[in-house]
Amino acid sequence: MGRRGNNCVSVEEMNRQREFIYLVKELNKGKLKKFQLNTYGCQMNENDSERLSGMLNQMGYIETENIGESDLIIYNTCCVRENAELKVYGHLGSLKRLKREKPDMIIAVCGCMTQQKEVVEHIREKYSHVDLIFGTHNLYKFPELLYSALSSGESIVDIWDSYGLVAEDIPIERKDRVKAWVTIMYGCNNFCSYCIVPYVRGRERSRQPERILEEIRELGQEGYKEVTLLGQNVNSYGKDLDTGIGFSDLLREVNKISGIERIRFMTSHPKDLSDDLIAAVRDCEKVCEHIHLPVQAGSSRILKEMNRKYTKEQYLELVDKIKNSINGVALTTDIIVGYPGETEEDFDDTLDVVRKVRFDMAYTFLYSKRTGTPAANKEDQVPEDVKKERFERLIEVQNRISRENNEKLLDEEVEVLVEGVSKTNKNVLSGRTRTNKIVNFKGNEELIGKLVKVRINKIQTWSLEGTVI
Ligand code: 5AD
Ligand code: SF4
Repeated sequence: MGRRGNNCVSVEEMNRQREFIYLVKELNKGKLKKFQLNTYGCQMNENDSERLSGMLNQMGYIETENIGESDLIIYNTCCVRENAELKVYGHLGSLKRLKREKPDMIIAVCGCMTQQKEVVEHIREKYSHVDLIFGTHNLYKFPELLYSALSSGESIVDIWDSYGLVAEDIPIERKDRVKAWVTIMYGCNNFCSYCIVPYVRGRERSRQPERILEEIRELGQEGYKEVTLLGQNVNSYGKDLDTGIGFSDLLREVNKISGIERIRFMTSHPKDLSDDLIAAVRDCEKVCEHIHLPVQAGSSRILKEMNRKYTKEQYLELVDKIKNSINGVALTTDIIVGYPGETEEDFDDTLDVVRKVRFDMAYTFLYSKRTGTPAANKEDQVPEDVKKERFERLIEVQNRISRENNEKLLDEEVEVLVEGVSKTNKNVLSGRTRTNKIVNFKGNEELIGKLVKVRINKIQTWSLEGTVI
């Protein structure tokens, strides 16, 4: 066991939860219990869902895709944009009938949505057939909450505003066998004015470095080849601890772990991306040459309104520095279109940044008003049709650039980590380059989990095709 820091949930409490795992297992004894887990949002939610699956497996549940045969249906939710919330409400509404037919079936809602008081009230009022509501800070308490719901037959609501502690040693059942998510810190301190994350995920809390390294060493031993270190802003990793180990130090340590061949990380806030991190990415052979660096907007005026703490010029300078230091680096980004008050001129700045940086890929979002954030109170909201029209223009420019960047790889030899059979075509294998581009190619399934050399012979906007050399 590694050193346990004082920012962790106590060993006693984690043991208590293990007892509830046992109690639920006893309740289910002799019965085949199935769960269906629906995950929305970012990779951190995916990683949380892997923990939920891990706990459920130990409680004797097996996963099913079929809602009709589920004894437990869970929604692990996201609230970053309104659309994600509307989808969940839609699903909850359509479950009303099934719950009437199967009253013993448990419906649970957790994740970022439920950290908002008004959402919990809305669910209790409009979707009273929901049995269990919990949040992001008490995920580790799921065994106890599920046990209460099962044994009392009553609705259980347990949401915490406080978020002081980090829970270690929650069981996990990972989705993938080749690459693994490793959350290194929780929360965000940045309060970008459009974003709800700091309100629902709390302030930054880093995991103890030893615990992270221990988890990754185990992954290496289990045969995992790639890890992605996750946090809302990984660049501020460790600032809340007294270990003296920052993010670039952590990367250097992970780089030494045997078995692991590739290291990725996300997300980096441009204001906190240090020279030391650039050096670590350049020097550590396992750290892939890819940085996800959300710009959000191109106009310095809008960036100031967004509370991003950098200007267009500073962002472009940072990009130049990264490109000059890290050979062949790929940059991807997040962009919001239609932030309140965004003019045509401001939007031109966004297009200008996109053309200058030539991102390999951009995740583009229509601004979505989030109650409780400063931007939601602004009077000068951009009309939907204007947002959509700008969005289309942005996508057109970005798609052309993504394709042109990919074209440079035609006839080139790239290193691919083979992840599995392609999701869209069962006859081909699929993997990624170090720069995170998807490559599809014909090959034997024995190659899964291996690094192979592939010559690229066909280019698409979102993926590449090639043959193994
Ligand atoms: N509207 C639209 N996009 C948003 N994002 C965060 N908040 C909002 C919002 N209110 C985007 C940002 C962030 C990504 C995860 O989601 O681009 O980087
Ligand atoms: Fe949201 Fe900004 Fe924090 Fe990212 S850095 S999670 S956009 S507040």
